[in-house]
Amino acid sequence: MKPQSSVSTTDKHRPVFSPTTLRELNQRFQAAPIGELLGWAIDTFSPKLALANSFGAEDVLLIDMLSTLHPPTKIFTLDTGRLPEETFEVMERVLERYKVAIESYFPEREAVERLERERGFYSFRRSVEERKFCCRIRKVEPLGRALVGVDAWMTGLRREQAATRTGLDIVEIDESHGSIVKLNPLAAWTEQQVWDYIRTHNVPYNALHDRGYPSIGCAPCTRAVQPGEDIRAGRWWWENPTTKECGLHLTPGNGDPGRKT
Ligand code: ADX
Ligand code: SF4
Repeated sequence: MKPQSSVSTTDKHRPVFSPTTLRELNQRFQAAPIGELLGWAIDTFSPKLALANSFGAEDVLLIDMLSTLHPPTKIFTLDTGRLPEETFEVMERVLERYKVAIESYFPEREAVERLERERGFYSFRRSVEERKFCCRIRKVEPLGRALVGVDAWMTGLRREQAATRTGLDIVEIDESHGSIVKLNPLAAWTEQQVWDYIRTHNVPYNALHDRGYPSIGCAPCTRAVQPGEDIRAGRWWWENPTTKECGLHLTPGNGDPGRKT
């Protein structure tokens, strides 16, 4: 299906969505099976569509779903240099199972060298500012490069993951990255739904999930949670929950007050 008539295009033929169209799309996809959104995304944006993948449960689920659709969607991962071994292991299993290409993006070498030489190897533990500085170098800057030439990117974000994500839409405009479209197909999914899908379809998943890690990022900034604890309690566990965003996903109240009002 092609973009609807209320969707205009820029000079470079990038689809542009009015606030009304965005609202309508969110209403439509909130009520529709996820396959309808994925099919629409491919029809509308491919080949300028990309899936950001950290190989957590939600992200491997999306690879499984996209693997049945054509044409293939670009899958990229931000290899921060501090990822756990288990994340590489699941990436390799995904390569074998789905025969997809995974595009790794590394941080700028000189920036990481300067970071470690000047601030040491655990500077992120010293303050929120130091932590965000490291995330900027290792994640946010490479994300900007991964999104060059992309009209829409897809994530595994869910509303129930965090206090900072409760207002998440399925279709958003990402003003931090040139007002391209950001799609969060699993926004309304529960953790139970994610795991039901993974088990039903025998999707490969990160072994850390079975060791008490519901959410997985860099090794030194992620730990297991206790039963009953919040999903993201193990991410930057020394910080207040309201600061726990690394800068990949900026919304009002989590570090980017200018994005939406
Ligand atoms: S984070 O901002 O706190 O690190 P989280 O781990 O919850 O994010 O992941 C949310 C979504 O962000 C993932 O589903 C994925 O789409 C994207 N993402 C997070 N980390 C990476 C990464 N290292 N590489 C690519 N995408 C990522
Ligand atoms: Fe650095 Fe930790 Fe952010 Fe990874 S999660 S980029 S190690 S501060």
